[in-house]
Amino acid sequence: MKVAVVGAGGIGGYFGGRLAAAGHDVRFVARGRHLEALRRDGLTVEGPEGDASGGFSVPASALRATDDPSEIGPVDHVLLGVKTWQLPSALPLLKPLVEDGTAVLTTQNGVEAPAEVAEVVGRDAVLLGSAKIITYLAGPGRIRHVGGLGSLTFGEWDNRPSDRVETLRRALDEAGVTAVVPQDIWAELWAKFLFVAPFGGLGSVTDAPIGALRSRPGTRRLLADAMTEIQRVARASGTVLPDDIVTTTLDFVDRQPAEGTSSLQRDIAAGLPSELEAWTGAVVRLGGSHGVATPVNSFLYQVLGLREARAAEQRAAERRTGGSAA
Ligand SMILES: NC(=O)c1ccc[n+]([C@@H]2O[C@H](COP(=O)([O-])OP(=O)(O)OC[C@H]3O[C@@H](n4cnc5c(N)ncnc54)[C@H](OP(=O)(O)O)[C@@H]3O)[C@@H](O)[C@H]2O)c1
Repeated sequence: MKVAVVGAGGIGGYFGGRLAAAGHDVRFVARGRHLEALRRDGLTVEGPEGDASGGFSVPASALRATDDPSEIGPVDHVLLGVKTWQLPSALPLLKPLVEDGTAVLTTQNGVEAPAEVAEVVGRDAVLLGSAKIITYLAGPGRIRHVGGLGSLTFGEWDNRPSDRVETLRRALDEAGVTAVVPQDIWAELWAKFLFVAPFGGLGSVTDAPIGALRSRPGTRRLLADAMTEIQRVARASGTVLPDDIVTTTLDFVDRQPAEGTSSLQRDIAAGLPSELEAWTGAVVRLGGSHGVATPVNSFLYQVLGLREARAAEQRAAERRTGGSAA
């Protein structure tokens, strides 16, 4: 099985690294200092304890990384691990990697990446995926696995069984990854979205971790209301989630480590580009197009949108002045 990883960060580095460590032919498309480190030192994935526990590595001698996908050519599977806001600039990289039968696996949080990818490679090439793990790029060549089992759930657009899904499932399984092929991959994407978007949006406006959000009755209610809005938007978009999805998702919220925060919250707090458009923004946009009211998500989106716009202005000013804008 020949695999290309486009976007070798927390997700691409971890799952692509697992496949490479298991001996598959995995090529990494990366850039900058990360690419240099991958070529020079290989890939290191640190386990949840930060030491070797649960970690693994792929030596430079066994790791093939490039910034030019035409050096790789067509592959069986592409693992697409860029952030949602990076898709427009990363999608052209797919062209040399895709031929008839190639599967491009999306891993982005949210429900819109598959359609965005399909616009470039065609719907037949897209596999929808959802990652359950917490990882991040700790430095050039270094991924940190913080928590979560490390599972990948995926399937064809229309949920039909296929050889390429089965091949990937088996390869991941043999590489030590929990690989799940659900009955309805869209329901999986929406269920994860129903957790991450409210958690991310509310955490970002309050700057509070999940333990605080869930224990104050007012913010717990806001979480539940934001989730209910997403359940309604999902139904209007054609995916019926279980009636008790909000209750079971709040149970899941209650089982998370109290200090947990989302990547959205961390990126917004740091003044970095974020996935706001693809999370809270998508709830509002899709709700609007289906006539579903989303007042809680709309409030979160407007407040955070303003904050994000100001951070973008600040970044632009810093670029103009060489980093000295106050
Ligand atoms: N990490 C998690 O725990 C987790 C869990 C579930 C779902 N997800 C979802 O998975 C997606 C990826 O998240 P992530 O945490 O893995 O992001 P990440 O750590 O930021 O990784 C993205 C990687 O893609 C690279 N990249 C972007 N554009 C590129 C280009 N044109 N050429 C080469 N490399 C490029 C980035 O390089 P630069 O640094 O140079 O931009 C970075 O190394 C997101 O949608 C996220 O919501 C993440």
